[in-house]
Amino acid sequence: MKLVVIGAQWGDEGKGKIVDYLAERADVVVRFSGGANAGHTVVTEQATYKLHLVPSGILYPNCHVVLGTGMVVDPEALFRELGELSSQHVSWEGRVYLSDRAHLVLPRYRDLDRELESKRRVPIGTTGRGIGVAYSLKASRDGIRVADLYDPSIFSKLSKEDQEYLLPYQEKLKPLVIDLARFMYDHRNSKVLFEGAQGTLLDLDVGTYPFVSSGVSIAAGASLGGGVGPKGIDKVLGVFKAYSTRVGNGPFPTEFQGERDGEIGNRIRELGREYGVTTGRPRRCGYLDMVALRYACRVNTLDSLVLTHLDVYDDFDEIRVCVAYDIEGKKVEDFPSQIGMLNNAKPITRVFKGWKQKISHCSRFDELPKEAQEYIRFIENETETPIDIISVGYHRNQTIVRRGPWTVS
Ligand code: GDP
Ligand code: IMO
Ligand code: MG
Repeated sequence: MKLVVIGAQWGDEGKGKIVDYLAERADVVVRFSGGANAGHTVVTEQATYKLHLVPSGILYPNCHVVLGTGMVVDPEALFRELGELSSQHVSWEGRVYLSDRAHLVLPRYRDLDRELESKRRVPIGTTGRGIGVAYSLKASRDGIRVADLYDPSIFSKLSKEDQEYLLPYQEKLKPLVIDLARFMYDHRNSKVLFEGAQGTLLDLDVGTYPFVSSGVSIAAGASLGGGVGPKGIDKVLGVFKAYSTRVGNGPFPTEFQGERDGEIGNRIRELGREYGVTTGRPRRCGYLDMVALRYACRVNTLDSLVLTHLDVYDDFDEIRVCVAYDIEGKKVEDFPSQIGMLNNAKPITRVFKGWKQKISHCSRFDELPKEAQEYIRFIENETETPIDIISVGYHRNQTIVRRGPWTVS
């Protein structure tokens, strides 16, 4: 069975936690897009792990993990991360693989990323990891792939500086390199999880362009950069938070505003520990946005949703959700493509009663307070998509499963 997990908002939805949870039963986890711009957190009894390039299945000793073709891989960052895993007593040797068709990120890409950013009239707020540069060079056919390290006809034509930088990685990367098409064919009967990075609204094609990343964050990315075709995928899960966050610039129609919304933004940021894993930047916070979530359900053809961070609302008297936008007096229910419209959108909200009790200990849906159940049912109705998994805390075990995803319905 092949299961895809993607972010349904602007990233940081808790994909790492959910992929780790589901990976207990997976043979393989494949990351299919992005690079070291991602930051996926997994919290276990032993430690907190922050993963940037390595897929979140790595904590299960029997799970094999793949950095897929659609990724842009900074080899320095990769070995730093693998070193950190070793120092956290995670033995990864022999079960981390890298697609020979993935592209490499060089230090000069990072420099150029920052330079371009400093020259933009309206900066995107990139992570400075060279991601946009790597994908641009890939599209203009000037990139360097993992396979090129071992192809003298290509390698010898690189600049002297690039050759010198890359030379040590020929040997270091060698044991990891695979042909992903062959690998996936050999694993055609295995349980494979495809781990998305970033989120639907940061996707290059369907996100809030140009305030997006440069990879394919939507479910389709699994079949572009994951080594299988669309028919090879059985189920797609979209992860979303009980509220919204965004790091970096760009439109955010439901962002909390001091004057209008008071202290709620700061409260959520502290309760939800909303600071970037990769850059440490405070995340912008806002109401759950049903206009955006409905859009995410549609562009990813989601089979089901995974709701995270529900516990962050434990102490709130009321919970507000955006059900539509008011744009210059007009009610808008479909996610607009125009940045100007998104910037002018005012959230039309609906209020729900808070549950005013702790829920992190709940292990079944019917143990949740009725107000929380009502909130969940409302989202399901609005999106016409079932919420199969509910996360009520950052710990691996604080997860409620209503319908196990490893079966095809
Ligand atoms: P990802 O990029 O989608 O993997 O998400 P991040 O790891 O960047 O950010 C999610 C943050 O929320 C991490 O600090 C997680 O440990 C934490 N987290 C995940 N699920 C929950 C949840 O249900 N409740 C709370 N309170 N925190 C969560
Ligand atoms: P995960 O996988 C949240 C944002 C950056 C910036 C924009 C472009 O942890 O959910 P880039 O460096 O990719 O060119 O930056 O995208 N961004 C993310 N925001 N979560 C992420 O990944 C992100 N990866 C990139 O903040 O606004
Ligand atoms: Mg993250």
